[in-house]
Amino acid sequence: MPAAPIYLDYHATTPVDPRVFGAMAPYFMEVFGNPASTSHRVGLQARAAVEQARQRIATAVGAASPREIVFTSGSTESNNLAIKGVARICRQRGRHVVTAATEHKCVLNACKALRDEGIDLTILPVATDGRLSVDAVEAALRPDTILVSLMHANNEIGVVHDLAAIGALCRARGVLFHTDATQSFGKLPVDVRSLQVDLLSMSGHKMYGPKGVGALYVRTPCALAPQLDGGGHEGGLRSGTLNVPGIVGLAEAVALAVEDLEHDRRTQQALRDRLWMALRAAFPDVLLNGPDPVAMPDARLPNNLNVSLAGPAGDALLAALGDDVCVSTSSACTSATGEASHVLTAIGRAPGLTNLRISVGRPTTDAEVDAVIAAIERAAALKM
Ligand SMILES: Cc1ncc(COP(=O)(O)O)c(C=O)c1O
Repeated sequence: MPAAPIYLDYHATTPVDPRVFGAMAPYFMEVFGNPASTSHRVGLQARAAVEQARQRIATAVGAASPREIVFTSGSTESNNLAIKGVARICRQRGRHVVTAATEHKCVLNACKALRDEGIDLTILPVATDGRLSVDAVEAALRPDTILVSLMHANNEIGVVHDLAAIGALCRARGVLFHTDATQSFGKLPVDVRSLQVDLLSMSGHKMYGPKGVGALYVRTPCALAPQLDGGGHEGGLRSGTLNVPGIVGLAEAVALAVEDLEHDRRTQQALRDRLWMALRAAFPDVLLNGPDPVAMPDARLPNNLNVSLAGPAGDALLAALGDDVCVSTSSACTSATGEASHVLTAIGRAPGLTNLRISVGRPTTDAEVDAVIAAIERAAALKM
């Protein structure tokens, strides 16, 4: 095992791509202005950088106008703004919101917070492989449904939902459709027109951009109630001085994600598939969480693997990986609280198993995967 740890937790976060870091660098000390300071050159330079970034992101997601991109601090904020923003402005039209049991906690908890304001919530169950039935979404729609919020791809088990079908359904029924694309951006094509989404969340640090910056796409003429009171930045939707280096970095990360998409997808899928084959061969009883990567490659993120092992096999594997291999024992957010994963619970996994989420990334090498496979084989031999 090499001295440096092998990082296989790219769903939790990613390192900043050197090209992104390079693009951001001038905006810390040279072009440091406040983009809201439009009475002088220093402010105007920063503003120009922000507007260029907005245009780049709008183009990348297929937005009709750069005005449809709102900068935020990341996907937690984008999801809160989308969900609470719609619910609080659409009170007269309806009070019903639809989401799913496997959404990220920031979506589920934003939805649950609205219950106190009289919003009726439908939380859809998923199948044992995490897939969501479009028919179930359709059956959940009511005349007073104002919003459907469903993620593009799951951060734990990598399952990809059929957004285009759900988008078409929502559009036909006049219901706003929000998607959390935090994990899909850079791994799958994300186009707001073909997916027919009205609101879409993204986060810099999941796609080799900086932490603490993200965006929300808001289709015109969708109206939102702002969630922060302040000076009315971002068209009144998100007050607060803009994080200029972060925004420039986000735009660069988005452009690179689009540019490198096919290459990243192919290489990461091959590495992930090698890990899956090795695990399956070493531990024939291993339980796969999420769709089968071989039988249904399109239903799963190309870089995601999530497995459960019972008893000594799980202990042996954890011991063999040790501190040298960084994987998640559930989602990053859930492991901080030490709770059981709500996603694994939703797909029916029993408690008490060893659950591993392994996610490869742009920097993952064949040599790293070889070393992890050797550790898996050692663990299997120990268990015998
Ligand atoms: C699917 C999903 N949504 C939202 C978030 C929250 O994103 P952020 O860290 O940008 O607030 C995460 C982060 O783990 C995520 O994986």
